[in-house]
Amino acid sequence: MTSATAVAGTNIALVKYWGKRDEVLNLPATGSLSLTLDRLGTRTRVAFDGGDGGRDRVTLDGAAASEKVAARVTAFLDRVRARAGIAARATVVTDNSVPTASGLASSASGFAALALAATGAAGLTLAPTELSVLARLGSGSAARSIFGGFVEMSPGVRPDGTDAAAHPLDAAAGWNVRLVVAITAAGEKALGSTAAMRRTAETSPYYEAWVRSVDGDLAAARAAVAGRDLAALGAVAERSAMRMHASAMAADPPILYWNPATVAAMARVGALRAEGAAASFTIDAGPHVKVLCDAREAEAVSAALAGTPGVLRTLIAAPGPGARLEEVG
Ligand code: DP6
Repeated sequence: MTSATAVAGTNIALVKYWGKRDEVLNLPATGSLSLTLDRLGTRTRVAFDGGDGGRDRVTLDGAAASEKVAARVTAFLDRVRARAGIAARATVVTDNSVPTASGLASSASGFAALALAATGAAGLTLAPTELSVLARLGSGSAARSIFGGFVEMSPGVRPDGTDAAAHPLDAAAGWNVRLVVAITAAGEKALGSTAAMRRTAETSPYYEAWVRSVDGDLAAARAAVAGRDLAALGAVAERSAMRMHASAMAADPPILYWNPATVAAMARVGALRAEGAAASFTIDAGPHVKVLCDAREAEAVSAALAGTPGVLRTLIAAPGPGARLEEVG
């Protein structure tokens, strides 16, 4: 029996991925740009040990995974088994280092860790770009968590998706930024990203405009990262998030992820900026607000957000490394 354990940090997109050019291969419609974090990650152990009665046995945060999660894991492992030429079912034990019931558990760190652990356990050694392609098949954002720090995802042009992979933006290595997360609700998000993206693409009159806007934001974000210009990067991050959410809000039926505390936190970030802080928000497919700022301002930003009505708690994350293997047995 071979087993492997891998860890991966989640990542937060500053230029969002919202829409696919191919659902089967999970190919994004546009590029995206993100920051991998040192917190909110996943540790996953995979052992091709026969699993449980002809099925993969999947444990998530100490309990048996739901049918939906288990099916997604099995579909992913089937690709790895096909590639490695093995048939054995697996035992998968995965734990997220996120505050309980915060709704922050992420498929990004989850599929990045699973890609690395599953290939390691299957005896495959994949180059980072190949791992990124594989992780993308599990979840689009997972392709970015293979790498640390600032990362750009290329949408690729090939129909088979072999060029739809992420790469690190090394020019930003060591840039001392922080991401402050303001948690504004407990529990799972209302509508998962995959379904919400599909509905946006199919019904939102703003979807095409959103897709057309992304290349310009990517160019601006790339330049801001290369020049370590936090104000410029923050401006791109806010408009990318707002445009993504605007496209989703215009879907039919509409998709609204925000709650009153989300809006209060957004306003608070604006007020902090008016006071001179280089702080800017982004929001994913949920109600939490994530604030990019300089490391020296992170405590003050965190305190201001914690004092905002409806914010339940805050946490500060730093740039983190890419996915890594902890043990191969
Ligand atoms: C709002 O990667 O979760 O976080 O590829 O369908 O699994 P699937 O979607 P997912 O979507 C992430 C959406 C986002 C923006 C982003 O991370 O770029």
